[in-house]
Amino acid sequence: MPKTYNIAVIPGDGTGPEVVAEGIKVLQAVAGKAGFGLDLTYFDFGGDRYLKTGEILPDSAIEELKRFDSIYLGAIGHPDVKPGILEKGILLRLRFELDQYINLRPVKLYPGIECPLKDKGPDHIDFVVVRENTEGIYTGAGGFFKKGTPDEVAVQESINTRKGVERCVRYAFEYCKKRQKNNKLTLCGKTNVLTYAFDLWERTFYEVAEEYPDIKSDYAHVDAITMWFVKNPEWFDVIVTDNMFGDIITDLGAMIQGGMGIAAGGNINPEGVSMFEPIGGSAPKYKGKNMINPLAAICAAGIMLEHLGEEKSGREIEQAVMKVTENHLKSLAAGKMGLTTTGVGDLVAKYVTEL
Ligand code: IPM
Ligand code: MN
Repeated sequence: MPKTYNIAVIPGDGTGPEVVAEGIKVLQAVAGKAGFGLDLTYFDFGGDRYLKTGEILPDSAIEELKRFDSIYLGAIGHPDVKPGILEKGILLRLRFELDQYINLRPVKLYPGIECPLKDKGPDHIDFVVVRENTEGIYTGAGGFFKKGTPDEVAVQESINTRKGVERCVRYAFEYCKKRQKNNKLTLCGKTNVLTYAFDLWERTFYEVAEEYPDIKSDYAHVDAITMWFVKNPEWFDVIVTDNMFGDIITDLGAMIQGGMGIAAGGNINPEGVSMFEPIGGSAPKYKGKNMINPLAAICAAGIMLEHLGEEKSGREIEQAVMKVTENHLKSLAAGKMGLTTTGVGDLVAKYVTEL
C-alpha cells in the first residue's frame, strides 16, 4: 500500500495562499513520482477570517491539527489587523500548544543567487540555526505595573527551563551529527551579561557535549555572531540558540542567503506534529499580483518531506530549486524574478519530475 500523508494546509494571509499553491504543486509532482499520496485539508485561519468572524484560532483547531502528519503554513499577518493579534494568536499559539520546541532554519546560498557579501559564494554559506521555539522572552511572562501613568513599569521576562534548554541542545547535537558536514555546533548566547539564562544554556550545552565527543562544541556571543555571519559565514555548521536570538540572527541569515524569497524553516515537535513555513511575512502589497517569490514556501515543503521521512523527495525539491536559481531567476525579489509566481512553481515542478 502506498503511503499517504495527511497534511493540514493553512495558506493564511496576503501572499500566503499564492506561495502555498506553488508548494503544493511541487509536492504533488514529487509525490506522483515517488509514489506516495497526499491528503490535504485546508484551514482558513488568518486575518480575513478574524475580521469576518472575530475568531482567531478556535480551541478545537488545536486538537484537530494534532491528528495530522504535518502542517504546511503560508503566512500570518494582515494590514487591517493590529500587529501581534494574529502572530501571537495563530503562529505562536500553534508553536507553543503543539510544543514545536525546535525552529529549524537552514541558511544556504544556492547557485546563481547574488550574495550581498563580497567574495562569498555557495561554498561559504551553508549552515543551520536550531532556534528554541517555546520559551525565552516569547512565553509572555511579565506584565505592566501602573500602566499609562508616569510611574509605569513594564517587565518582560525570559523563561528558560532545564528541560526546555536540554531538549533543544540535544536536538542540535543530534542534528549536527546526522548532517555530517563539519561536525561543529556553536552555542549562540550572551554569557557575559545574561548570567542566569545563558549560564543555564552554557552548563547544559557542555554537559550534553560530553556525550558527543566527535562534535566540536563552540561558543559565540550573539552580537559577535552577527559580525561573523557577515565576515566569516563559512565558520558555521550548526548553531543552537534561544528563541529571541534565534529570531534575530535568522533574519540576518535569510539576507546572506539571498533574502526572504528563499528562507524557509520548520517548527518541529520531534514527538508530535510539526509545521513548515516560509519565514518571510505575508507581503500584502504583492497579494494577488502573481509576483511574489514562492521558492521559500517550496523549500519549506521540501524540509517537510525530509521530516516526514521522504528524504529523497525532499532533496529532489532542493535540487530542482537550485536548477531554477542557477538557470532562470534574475533575482529572488518579488517582481524582479523575470518570472511570475506560478511560472517559478511550474519550473520547479518540471525539474522535480525530470530529475
Ligand atoms: C518568525 C517571525 C515570528 C517570530 C513573529 C511573526 C511572531 O518573526 O517566525 O521569525 O518572532 O518568531
Ligand atoms: Mn522572525
